[in-house]
Amino acid sequence: MKIILLGAPGVGKGTQAQFICQAYGIPQISTGDMLRQAIKDQTPLGIKVKSVMDRGDLVTDEIIIDLVKERISASDCQSGFLFDGFPRTIPQAESLREAGVEIDFVIEINLSDQKIIDRLSGRRVHPGSGRIYHLVFQPPKRDGVDDQTGEPLVQREDDLEETIKDRLRVYHEQTAPLIDFYQAEMQAKGGSYGVVEGDGATEEIQKSIQKLLGEQS
Ligand code: AP5
Repeated sequence: MKIILLGAPGVGKGTQAQFICQAYGIPQISTGDMLRQAIKDQTPLGIKVKSVMDRGDLVTDEIIIDLVKERISASDCQSGFLFDGFPRTIPQAESLREAGVEIDFVIEINLSDQKIIDRLSGRRVHPGSGRIYHLVFQPPKRDGVDDQTGEPLVQREDDLEETIKDRLRVYHEQTAPLIDFYQAEMQAKGGSYGVVEGDGATEEIQKSIQKLLGEQS
């Protein structure tokens, strides 16, 4: 099963991806996580993209397309995968089409910009595992530390309020056109396009996604 989770920064793609990937036994391919790992490891790629990500801009299509092509050729992607944060531009989506990658489901998660700002400014993450928390909505059991390892949680550099606003602007300009692109693509190719309301309890949104995947698989 090949799934794309589509939606603005902070709608809950990463949170929902964790449950979908567990339930369906497919890997989560988060281009954001891959790039942050490269920054942490100080690889040439990481050094190149750090300032772009810190200011909330998109990394070039060329870099992202190469990264994704390499990742989906790995053996754990044979029976499917979930894209979280990719594609993000029309050229990225077209590169998938040209590579003959057939997507079964596109799930769009919707949330207002103001709610996104509230969510992202309170987000904390465990860098080692990518586990996601929120100071108010999904707090860790003990303040400031990961539930499973006890290691410190951090705030992402691009989760400062001014940068969040820039990321939202970039989303509306460059990524939102993918909504029309994939509605047409799924209709033409026999895949499914579903929309889920992102405002509500995590478990409720999870149930809506499960229903969508169950109904249409
Ligand atoms: P990336 O890492 O992909 O970030 P993003 O798309 O901006 O998405 P986020 O991870 O910020 O949000 P999310 O939707 O996953 O929300 P989450 O589940 O964490 O990209 C970062 C950067 O990398 C980009 O800016 C760009 O520079 C670069 N990049 C990456 N991919 C690229 C590409 N393809 N092309 C070019 N550049 C690329 O939830 C957010 C918060 O809300 C959390 O605190 C969570 O606990 C909380 N929350 C979740 N669900 C709920 C709920 N139902 N109720 C209350 N709180 C909730």
